[in-house]
Amino acid sequence: MNRNALDQTARSILQKNDRGGYTVPTDRLYPYQWNWDSAFVSLGFAGDDRARAWQELFLLVEGQWDDGMIPHIIFRQDDPDYFPGPSVWNTPAGKYPTGGISQPPVLTSVVTDLVDSGDETDLAYAKKLFDQLYRWHTWWHHARTPEGSSLIATVHPWETGRDNCPDWDLGLDRMTASTDLPPYTRRDTSHVDPSMRPSDAQYDKYLTIVMAGRAVDWDQKRLTNEGPFAMYCPGLIFILHRADKDLKRLAHRIGKTAEADQLAAWIAATEADLDRIWNPDFKAFCARDVRSGAFADGFSNASPLCFYAHAGTQDQLLATLDHVHRISHKVGHLMPSWDPDHPAFESKRYWCGPLWPQMNFLLWKGLVEHHQTYLAHRTQNDLARAIEASGFWECFDPTDGSGCVGTDFSWTAALWLAWLSPSRKKAAA
Ligand code: DGY
Repeated sequence: MNRNALDQTARSILQKNDRGGYTVPTDRLYPYQWNWDSAFVSLGFAGDDRARAWQELFLLVEGQWDDGMIPHIIFRQDDPDYFPGPSVWNTPAGKYPTGGISQPPVLTSVVTDLVDSGDETDLAYAKKLFDQLYRWHTWWHHARTPEGSSLIATVHPWETGRDNCPDWDLGLDRMTASTDLPPYTRRDTSHVDPSMRPSDAQYDKYLTIVMAGRAVDWDQKRLTNEGPFAMYCPGLIFILHRADKDLKRLAHRIGKTAEADQLAAWIAATEADLDRIWNPDFKAFCARDVRSGAFADGFSNASPLCFYAHAGTQDQLLATLDHVHRISHKVGHLMPSWDPDHPAFESKRYWCGPLWPQMNFLLWKGLVEHHQTYLAHRTQNDLARAIEASGFWECFDPTDGSGCVGTDFSWTAALWLAWLSPSRKKAAA
């Protein structure tokens, strides 16, 4: 398909997935509003309709909890096409039922992107969102920091957005699936090819963590310290670190001095503690189990987000580049979600190998900002080629660029419009 026709298709996907001010990631497989999906989607609207771009974000923060968490899903209605729905999560009553965990906080950096590429109206929208964003950052730094750590951890693979990445095997292997799980039927595997989705054994553990959240009445600090699963995720850590820096810039701009000082303190504390996720044997930032201290032993597409976060020493950045170069020779399409040299690599199974559009976008940003022209070009152009050849899939097989899992996917369409299309407008500049 030629690139102009792709622009039209991308717009029609966003229109089709629009549920009246917020956008579902794709019909049926994901029929609600997802946190980081909406942030990327907002960039896709921004070129044509700034008000609609902001509306996506304002509807997302409607899900914020009293403790400050902005949850990963907002269930505005109960849809039998999705499992686990609101009755399974059973979270505290708010404006809407929601999931009980969060998701990578790209929202903040999308807000500051819109301000940077916009005008006074965009700044006014951002000012209105500031307090809610700041409360969310406070929540991350309090509720998700295990005892003695300045780095945030996660309590559930779904919170990282990288659901079944082999990064999480360490933590999942340490826990046992509850024998008291109520019988359930997965819905995802009836919408898409099951060989591209997580396994049933993984689902039992995902559900076990949800039950552990319910058992502590979704007290998030307790879930972090006592829950069955606790791991450091380079993706979450780097995305929050970048978001802290972006929010600090916004805080200065709008005169929120005390908040800017607190953000500076979190930024410094994260930097001082960053070696906690540096795997010295493998020479990369890797996921790590909080309780056992064991490191994951493969390079994921979250590992090089140190560039996006502007974090790590010169030696760490150089070693990270070596891994990206190594992997760039192994696949036709950068950047696979898991290391092709690792035995757990599977080119079509969700986060065990496929290339993810939104991760390529974040990685590309970081590489451009570090003047890594060749690799930046690969992350952008390899994805554009995959979309041109295969369409707007959720993710792509990095070996041949064929589409995987969900079709007509909102973030793929949005990032095409904001970033990849030759006719793109300035939203993601
Ligand atoms: C799913 O259902 O696959 C989601 O990733 C959970 O957020």
